[in-house]
Amino acid sequence: MRVTTTTTDLWHHYGRIRTEHDRAVPHTFSWLWNQNGGPGPEVLGDLTGKVVGDLGAGAARHAAHLATHHAPARVDAVDASPAQYAMAIDLFGHLAPRLRIVRSGVVKHVQTMADTYDVLYSVFGAVDFTDPSELLPSVAVALRPGGRLLFSTLAHYLGGAPAEPDVVPADVPARTPNGEATTMRRWVLQEQTWTKVLDESGFTQISVDRLPSTTSAPRSADTLFVTAVRRA
Ligand SMILES: C[S@@+](CC[C@H](N)C(=O)[O-])C[C@H]1O[C@@H](n2cnc3c(N)ncnc32)[C@H](O)[C@@H]1O
Repeated sequence: MRVTTTTTDLWHHYGRIRTEHDRAVPHTFSWLWNQNGGPGPEVLGDLTGKVVGDLGAGAARHAAHLATHHAPARVDAVDASPAQYAMAIDLFGHLAPRLRIVRSGVVKHVQTMADTYDVLYSVFGAVDFTDPSELLPSVAVALRPGGRLLFSTLAHYLGGAPAEPDVVPADVPARTPNGEATTMRRWVLQEQTWTKVLDESGFTQISVDRLPSTTSAPRSADTLFVTAVRRA
């Protein structure tokens, strides 16, 4: 008997409307939830000749910006969603080989990349949607000793409820490709909770900054901006 399993792509709709009218490599790189202002790519340091990876890159807009404007050796834009992968290839496939668009779960990807990356980052990407206790130790091993992880994540739930004091996920609303309502797991953790789990996962020099929203638009949110260094 042949058993076929399929995983529903809950990222089918994400960024689709923008892609219809905006196909350009972005001129800017924002870490903020609303993607307007705040610190930019300079916090990644000088990327010249560096090997960089975006964990949960979506349509790879951030990665395309870095590959085009910051002269890295390579940026790997990793995403598990078939829809996001297809969008990224369609928009930015022409930036290969400096931009390498990879369709994979990030845990599986980083487990094959020991001591490879100078910098790994995530902008509301896989770090938000993957059990940190599973993801972060693998990310540490994929960095070169002294390599840096930087990510932005929600400082609180959308709607305002406070972040979690423990490493526990919540079920948040999502939509199937057909538009049916469902849920997915998201980790929205307090500052000290991220610090603890990063420390336990092989990181040092951990810093967590709360960046206030720069807009009062509906569904705006404050951002936690987290940086850490792989322990030698
Ligand atoms: C909110 S989107 C952000 C995408 C992109 N970073 C951006 O700023 O536009 C989250 C992305 O993370 C990806 N993702 C979530 N968990 C992942 C995992 N474990 N492995 C790979 N990709 C993942 C999803 O497929 C989705 O494209």
